Amino acid sequence: MSKTKSNKDEFIPASNQEKYELLDQKNQEALLGGGEARIASQHKKGKLTARERLHMLLDQGTFQEIGKFVTHRCKEFGLENQRYLGDGVVTGFGNINGRLVYVFSQDFTVFGGSLSETHAEKIVKIMDLALQNGAPLVGLNDSGGARIQEGVVSLGGYADIFYRNTQASGVIPQISGVMGPCAGGAVYSPAITDFVLMVEKTSYMFVTGPNVVKTVTHEEISSEELGGALTHSSKSGVSQFACANEVECIKHIKQLLSYMPQNCEEQPPTYTYQSTNNEIRPGLNDIIPENPNHPYDMRDVIQGIVDENSFLEVHKIFAENIVVGFARLAGRSIGIVGNQPASLAGVLDINASTKAARFVRFCDSFNIPLLVFEDVPGFLPGTDQEWNGIITHGAKLLYAFCEATVPRVTVITRKAYGGAYDVMNSKHIGADLNFAWPTAEIAVMGAKGASEIIFKKEIAAADDPEAALEAKVQDYTAKFTNPYRAAHRGFIDEIIYPKDTRARLIFDMLKNKVCKQPRKKHGNIPL
Ligand code: HXC
Repeated sequence: MSKTKSNKDEFIPASNQEKYELLDQKNQEALLGGGEARIASQHKKGKLTARERLHMLLDQGTFQEIGKFVTHRCKEFGLENQRYLGDGVVTGFGNINGRLVYVFSQDFTVFGGSLSETHAEKIVKIMDLALQNGAPLVGLNDSGGARIQEGVVSLGGYADIFYRNTQASGVIPQISGVMGPCAGGAVYSPAITDFVLMVEKTSYMFVTGPNVVKTVTHEEISSEELGGALTHSSKSGVSQFACANEVECIKHIKQLLSYMPQNCEEQPPTYTYQSTNNEIRPGLNDIIPENPNHPYDMRDVIQGIVDENSFLEVHKIFAENIVVGFARLAGRSIGIVGNQPASLAGVLDINASTKAARFVRFCDSFNIPLLVFEDVPGFLPGTDQEWNGIITHGAKLLYAFCEATVPRVTVITRKAYGGAYDVMNSKHIGADLNFAWPTAEIAVMGAKGASEIIFKKEIAAADDPEAALEAKVQDYTAKFTNPYRAAHRGFIDEIIYPKDTRARLIFDMLKNKVCKQPRKKHGNIPL
């Protein structure tokens, strides 16, 4: 290609053919990001490049890039001599399973994926388009944070993104894949989005890194331990998914989107369901142990009821005493919340409450009906819980259910005690239908605790207090530890055999539910 050089060292093509060739050349240059050596270094760390990730995420041939030739404007610290086309982030749109999504993918090979003014502008443009067009936003994060050479303009860029994350919240689904470093204030964009997925061993998130931690608190800790995928997926709950590698992470992002509508005005997609005309599941009759104090896995109940292989558990290793996730019933998306008797007897504590509350609010924002499985002995007692605010955090779950207007159904499999009975999607707080299995126990508290309180004097005065207590416990159990009192009141709509649960739930009777809330600016959820 013959090119003339401008006085700014730029080639000026002479013919149309040369102009096309120049575009070819620039396209090739943009595809290389920070260059082959840095791409090799990225691969050596077990990481994909920004473009490889998008290639894997989007339906083949659907990606359309926006802003490929954007470069930074910084003239400090020699940056004026280092410009890379695209400036460290690949942005655009494409399809996932045939549906439109807007995407950005940070390119670590360009200044460590750091966020400059123009890098931020590219992301902001994509966010605005996603919001205006009512399509989900997927961000793949891999960045050293604020572009240090640019100073405050980079901080401004972050704030522009946070503002849009918040504006878009509840309007379009927002998903963050964290596939490399994500530190400092940068963590707050993923934190505002609906789902955070991290990759084990190659990604981390923290407000201050190990060095600052060591200086301030004298703790010595690795990046992985402080803010790696397992830490945030099991200890802090910041991340909903810890993925073994990037391929799994991208697979989960696609699967998550399959349950969601494009925006809050639309219904979730419905998948074709071939009915076998036999929705009875006899195995469910055998799940609840004879001894009410023995555990069982609520996942077995869920798997036994929803469409085969349709359950995607969210926040699987955080607050394991409650199970939340998406599934399908006869092809329709549902959100599931279930107490987990196999962990801490399914008790509600701070983490379980916040985990479930956030999930309920997501489902309600995006028209995904809620199905609740209840087996809860109550709230977890103790100073740790009280001093850390179980009152406020438990109220979040209560509030989230109370304000949810999507179709809401509860199945009480076993225990529904005390305040937890009210909180777990009871009819009193707006559930549409509540079913109980014959094994349900719906009462203010367990028979022993109740008898000890209300018959305290009588038991103390008895010749054989132990036998007296046992008699009272048996009496209380016979009267209250069952679902019939609640059913007499209409608090339970129907007592059903476990095996019939799927058949009962599969009807579309709540499909057209309309529920209007009082007009307000927004509520004040107990944060
Ligand atoms: C400019 C950066 C950069 C940054 C990395 N690079 N971070 N350039 N601004 N923030 C560049 C490096 O100079 C290097 O350039 C290339 O990216 C790769 O970085 P390496 O250090 O070689 O990679 P690695 O060893 O993998 O370490 C990655 C890293 C480290 C852990 C992210 O680079 C790092 O600690 N960076 C600084 C992180 C940071 O302090 N950021 C500011 C946080 S404060 P070359 O040319 O050699 O390839 C913040 C505030 C946000 O973000 C507030 C929002 C409200």
